[in-house]
Amino acid sequence: MSVSQTGPRPKRAFVIGHPIAHSRSPMLHGHWLETLGLAGVYEARDVAPEALPAFFENLRAEGYVGGNVTVPHKLAVIPFLAEIDEAARAIGAVNTIWLEGGRLVGGNTDAYGFLGNLDQLAPGWDAAGGVAVVLGAGGAARAAVYALLSRGFAVRLVNRTPATARDLAAHFGEGVTAHDWTALPALLPEANLLVNTTSLGMLGKPPLDIDLTQLKAGAVVNDIVYVPLDTPLLRQARARGLRTVDGLGMLLHQAVAGFAHWFGVTPSVTPALRALLEADI
Ligand code: ATR
Repeated sequence: MSVSQTGPRPKRAFVIGHPIAHSRSPMLHGHWLETLGLAGVYEARDVAPEALPAFFENLRAEGYVGGNVTVPHKLAVIPFLAEIDEAARAIGAVNTIWLEGGRLVGGNTDAYGFLGNLDQLAPGWDAAGGVAVVLGAGGAARAAVYALLSRGFAVRLVNRTPATARDLAAHFGEGVTAHDWTALPALLPEANLLVNTTSLGMLGKPPLDIDLTQLKAGAVVNDIVYVPLDTPLLRQARARGLRTVDGLGMLLHQAVAGFAHWFGVTPSVTPALRALLEADI
């Protein structure tokens, strides 16, 4: 007697990008599907820019309930969506898509991930509020600034190219000021949080070479870089006795919201999940 294969099709979710082989998202969503015992599928799809319209045309027929979006599609997907959420509008990029009442909605979960990482690894980090110094003014900085404003911080944005920092400060308006690197020594003494969103310190890039001696004893240092996990910035901060938070947790926490939308269960960022990803770095 053969076992019937009929029944509800497993929900499918994707990560689209071009290229996509480097993505760690299948590993982390695969871990959650397995440990939660859910019959879902999460798969990487290499979608070239010219193939984007066909991908969206076939999305529902392929059984997809949503997915993640990475480079180079974070803006290009917007015309295919019925709506984008406030975070995606403010950050200027979509990284997560889900179906809501049959309509495709796009959001950005990076700010959620940024806050979830700090909340988990440095509990109480925002209790004193005050000033956050953010280094860099690219896409990651946008998410960090949006997140920090939502927790009431005043943000000092420091960037190599001052015009980029000024544009970003103007985009967010009140609460954000723009500075060049020469301002850093004067900004550090008032900071309760220092965040690196530049690529400095990343594998193959020069280290972020700044002097942290002016930071307050209670300040927290967060590096968004996670390859390697332990950057020269974080080592220097630890040597000074400061609390440090690496960047891997932002990747893990930003994935939580997407998974919850697609599969209906809110997963946890556990030590086992961190260990799984760390082993791959
Ligand atoms: P992402 O979207 O991942 O944040 P990005 O848009 O390429 O990446 O932003 C990289 C950030 O790192 C920028 O703020 C960039 O500064 P510029 O606006 O001056 O380019 C910063 N950055 C990269 N290399 C740098 C370097 N060697 N020195 C100082 N800043 C650097």
